[in-house]
Amino acid sequence: MSKKITTIYSCSKCDAQFNKWEGRCNECGAWGSIKKFQLDQHERVKADTRVDALSTVDLSKISNENIKRQKTGISELDRVLGDGLVPGSLLLMAGEPGIGKSTLLAQLVISLLDKNPLYVSGEESARQVKNRFDRLYQEKKPLKFLGETNVEKIIATIEKEKPGLVVIDSIQTTYSLLSDSDPGSINQIRTATMRFLELAKKNNITIILVGHITKDGNVAGPKSLEHIVDAVFYLENSRNNQFRILRAIKNRYGSVNEIGVFNMTGIGLAEMKNPSQVFIDEEQKDVPGSVVSMIQEGSRPFLVEIQALVSKTAFGYPQRKASGYDLNRLQVLISVISKRAGMNLSNQDVIINTVGGLKVNDPAIDLAICLAIIYSRLNQSSPRNQLVIGEIGLGGEVRQISNLKNRLNEATKLGFKSAIAPLNKTEIKNLKQIKIKELKDALSLIK
Ligand code: TYD
Ligand code: MG
Repeated sequence: MSKKITTIYSCSKCDAQFNKWEGRCNECGAWGSIKKFQLDQHERVKADTRVDALSTVDLSKISNENIKRQKTGISELDRVLGDGLVPGSLLLMAGEPGIGKSTLLAQLVISLLDKNPLYVSGEESARQVKNRFDRLYQEKKPLKFLGETNVEKIIATIEKEKPGLVVIDSIQTTYSLLSDSDPGSINQIRTATMRFLELAKKNNITIILVGHITKDGNVAGPKSLEHIVDAVFYLENSRNNQFRILRAIKNRYGSVNEIGVFNMTGIGLAEMKNPSQVFIDEEQKDVPGSVVSMIQEGSRPFLVEIQALVSKTAFGYPQRKASGYDLNRLQVLISVISKRAGMNLSNQDVIINTVGGLKVNDPAIDLAICLAIIYSRLNQSSPRNQLVIGEIGLGGEVRQISNLKNRLNEATKLGFKSAIAPLNKTEIKNLKQIKIKELKDALSLIK
C-alpha cells in the first residue's frame, strides 16, 4: 500500500504544490516562496463521517417579487448593468491600469451620494482619491473613504457604517487573514472575493470590486474570480485609444451583449449616447473599399464603417490582416468570395479595418466585409448612403440576421436611402431595399 502523504509544500505566490521543498517555485519562478504544510488526517476522517440531512426548499412557494434596481444616473452604465444596480450583488470591474476604472466608479459614487457610499482604496491615499473626486465634482458633500487593505478590517467597517454601495479599489491589493498566501496571489484574491460575496449577500449591499488585468492577458487576476461574482464588466480602449468601451462579460441580472461607450475628458468619462457618430467617418466621402453596416450590440443598433484594402501581393504568401475583426472569419470570407463569387484573391493582400476601433463580432457584418473587399479589388466606391447587412454562409448564400427591422428603421432615421439586405418580407418606408439571395448577386450589382 502506498504511504499516505502527510506533508506538502506549497508556493505562497501561485499555490502550486510540491512533495519536496525547493528553493524556487517551478510554476511561477518565485524564489523562497515554498512553505511546508502539515495535512490534518483527522479533518479528512471528520469529513467522511455521516452528517444529518438538511431540509430542502420548495421553489414554487417562494414569492416572485421583482428585484428593485438602483439606477445609477449614468445611462451608458445603467444599460450595461442591466438597468441599474441590484442590491446584494457583487460586481467586478476589470481593465488595464490607467483605463479609467477608478474614474468611472468615482463618478458612480458621486451620482449615488445619497445612498451613503463608501470608497475603499488600497492603492491610493485619501489625498489622491480626493484629488480625483475634486476633478469630477465641484460641490463639497461628505463622502466616506477608507484606505485599508485588510479584508477583515474593511468588512468590520462596512458592517459598522452600513453603506448602500461599496467600491473596493482594487481586489488585488487586499488580503485576508484567512489565507496564508501572499497579497496579490490567486488564492488571496479568491479568499477576499468570497468574503466580500458573503458580506454583500448578508447585508444586501452592492459591492463593486476593481480588478487589474495586464496588457498581455489576465495574470493572477480577474479571470479566476469570474465564477464567484454576480457580474463581470470589462472597461477597454477602442483601438485608436479615443473611446472607452464598457462590456458585460457575465451578468446574472442582465444581458451580456450591451456595451457602453465613453469618452475620457478632463472632467471624467463623458457618455457617448449616439455611437453611430463615433464608428463611421463622417467627413469621408466615397472611398473605394469603404462600406457602412449596422451592428447590434444588445438592445441598441448602431453604424460601423468597414474599410478594406486589397492590393497585389509583392512576393510570397498573400497577407491577411484584420483590426477590430476576427482574422479567422476574414479568411473564411475570402475563401467564400473566391469560390462563390468567382473573384480570385489568391495573389492579393487583404487588410480590413473597422473605423473608430470597435471590435465587431456581429455576424450581420459579413456581407459588408465581403463587399468592402470586392469594392476595393474593383477600385470602386460604395454609395455613402447605402447600408449593407447580412450574414454569409459557406455556400455564398446571404442569410437572415436578427433584428433586421430594427436595424433598418434605425438606418432610415440616420438618413440612409437604400440598403443591401438578405431576402425578407419587411418593408420600410423611405428605404429602398435591394434584397439579395447570394453573394454573387451583390457582385453583379457592382459590376
Ligand atoms: P484611472 O481612473 O485612475 O484609471 P484606472 O483606475 O483604470 O487605473 O484614470 C486613468 C487616466 O485617466 C489617468 O491617466 C488620468 C486620466 N483622467 C482624465 O483624463 N480625466 C479625468 O477626469 C480623470 C479623473 C482621469
Ligand atoms: Mg485605479
